Amino acid sequence: MMGPLPSGACGVRILGTGSAVPDRRLTNADFARMMDTSDEWIKQRTGISERRVLDLRTEGCSTLAQRALERAIDAAGIKAEELDLVIVASVTMEMTCPSVSCRIAGAVGAKNAAAFDLVAACSGFVYALNTAEAMVRAGRARTVAVIGSEAMSSIIDYTDRTVSILFGDAAGCAIIQADADPTKGCIYQHMGADGSGWHALYIPRRETDVPPEDAANPVRLGNLRMNGKEVFRFAVTKFREVMEDAFAKTGLTPDDVSQVICHQSNVRIIDAAREKLNIDPSKIYVNIDRYGNSSAGSVPLCLDELWRAGKITKGKPFMLVAFGGGLTWASSVWNT
Ligand code: UT7
Repeated sequence: MMGPLPSGACGVRILGTGSAVPDRRLTNADFARMMDTSDEWIKQRTGISERRVLDLRTEGCSTLAQRALERAIDAAGIKAEELDLVIVASVTMEMTCPSVSCRIAGAVGAKNAAAFDLVAACSGFVYALNTAEAMVRAGRARTVAVIGSEAMSSIIDYTDRTVSILFGDAAGCAIIQADADPTKGCIYQHMGADGSGWHALYIPRRETDVPPEDAANPVRLGNLRMNGKEVFRFAVTKFREVMEDAFAKTGLTPDDVSQVICHQSNVRIIDAAREKLNIDPSKIYVNIDRYGNSSAGSVPLCLDELWRAGKITKGKPFMLVAFGGGLTWASSVWNT
């Protein structure tokens, strides 16, 4: 981490991005063979056709996080030693001590970097990016790797058809750096939480973590439990509110932004918000059909695909929006 503050106001730019998904595909047809479901039901209710899953015998959250970090370092054209902070957002880290960020910083040779993991469920990457951006802007760090990485398959009970069909494994990384132009970087950010809704989406470790109203839920301890309808209602409302807030506070309209990059939870949730705000479909990226919901991995995976495809137009702002367990939500509007 950097000590003395650089003089003058400081901007922030994204130097490069990277992402990683496992090779193994789990298709709707695979689920139909495993449980009472169908390709038609899954596609119609969620927009998902397939998702990627790790081989958990040898791989985990840090495998994908490291791959995404290495690709972002390459794309950014920096040396790992230049990083002075690595943040990994996840709910599926193999261990809480050491953190995934410490392990992958060590593995890539980021020996000058501080490292910590951050937990904000599906909002994790946007929380981490906002945190990193504020630190760079304040001069507390110069070059930061922000990663969202999830091994969702490690917390899924594959006998539970209501939850298992939604999730996949993925990671993405953005490397940000201080820039002399103070107009560059995050022009608006918002992070929020409502812990009173925690039991809508949670991973109990002990019997005592389970609230009485969910006691009959057969999903095993250590696996994700979800009240799909409650999360759906929260997500549709919050997604719209968070975007409306970001547009109102920045004075931007959907026409002014190159992309709204949103958490891939369910295509119906994305479509509902998009229609309400009258945003052109070309401006809201959707890849849930290929990867499912990868929690903190979903926003940076979209960001990397768009960045590499040249869809984040220079000189135009773009917006990141996420919501998820906690309950949490976050937005981040960037000037490129
Ligand atoms: O990052 C945030 C994470 N979570 C989310 O974003 C999830 C938000 N919620 C959702 O996406 C939706 O609530 C689900 C996709 C999980 C479920 O869709 P739904 O339209 O809310 O379905 P439902 O729960 O109302 O279930 C309708 C029916 C039920 O059968 P009955 O009671 O009507 O006979 C379910 O048992 O569909 C049944 N069902 C299924 N059928 C076939 C539930 N899961 C499945 C399945 N295949 N996989």
